[in-house]
Amino acid sequence: RWQKKIFSGIQPTGSMHLGNYLGAVRKWTELQNKRENITISIVDMHSITMPHNPPALRENIFLMAATLLACGIDPSHTTLFVQSSVLEHSELNWILNSLTTMPRLAQLPQFKEKSRTVRDVPLGLFVYPVLQAADIMLYKATHVPVGADQVQHIQLAQHLARGFNTRYGDMFPICNPLIEENEGSRILSLREPSKKMSKSDLSPKGTINLNDSPDQITEKIKKAVTDFTSDISYNPNARPGVSNLVNIHALVTGQSIESVVEEAKQLDTAQYKERVSEAVIEHLRPIRELINKHLSNRNELIYILEMGSEKARKVAQATMTEVKQRLGL
Ligand code: ADP
Ligand code: NA
Repeated sequence: RWQKKIFSGIQPTGSMHLGNYLGAVRKWTELQNKRENITISIVDMHSITMPHNPPALRENIFLMAATLLACGIDPSHTTLFVQSSVLEHSELNWILNSLTTMPRLAQLPQFKEKSRTVRDVPLGLFVYPVLQAADIMLYKATHVPVGADQVQHIQLAQHLARGFNTRYGDMFPICNPLIEENEGSRILSLREPSKKMSKSDLSPKGTINLNDSPDQITEKIKKAVTDFTSDISYNPNARPGVSNLVNIHALVTGQSIESVVEEAKQLDTAQYKERVSEAVIEHLRPIRELINKHLSNRNELIYILEMGSEKARKVAQATMTEVKQRLGL
């Protein structure tokens, strides 16, 4: 009964990193190129849930837009916009707040992880998964391509859509997560391979950004935490650090895990790290060049984002008109 619509978002908290790219953004461009109806939001309202620096956030919004374009997002097919320019996101968030409970939100693993790093937990950090559900529901998205770290948040969005439909009458599809089955959906921090690679990682040396220079990439991979075994094998539980490198290597070269491990048979960890660096640098070179090209044309970026906002706003406003009618607002 629902038309297939895809929605996903990315925070402009910092540069796009390999985890975002291999776990999500690559998938978005594939879907776009299959001519799916897809909307991508740079979710800046999510980036203010933790302490942030305003001028840096402004720059990171443009950097994220330039990076998405460099990765192949084509604004003539995909609706690409900045979340805060479509006011309806906050409006629907407020309405959804009454459809869930504090204990339900307190269980979410991302909240548990992030709230450990701050003494007084901001309310925004607590409710941001509800804003995420609003992001999805405003566009009546049926499919949400995300990394494995987002499973619980998608479940919350499903729960909220069901809750709304039950209370106020069927209006929202129950969205399906599109998550890669393989290990690729979860890229780990190079420094702390027990945690996912993240923009909000407190040790930024564990994160490879798409706009890192070749030297920075080499340096970060060289210092990646591995273990005391010097040969290369793939065993994510017993050897998370080395396995993460193997995984990244396989994903950027398009090889299978087995063939990557087979080719690395003669190498020790230090030699293997050089091989991985070369592969990552090679893969990211054209993307980095395009990022710089797009960044140097600020007016065009502004124009692209404004066009995207206009398209998104039309859909979001239609949804909110319907929502308000249902609620008696
Ligand atoms: P971050 O945690 O780095 O701020 P975002 O919240 O902006 O990332 O997430 C953007 C997309 O990237 C989401 O679909 C998320 O699931 C995916 N993603 C984030 N980190 C990783 C990772 N380490 N591995 C795989 N996918 C990831
Ligand atoms: Na995140």
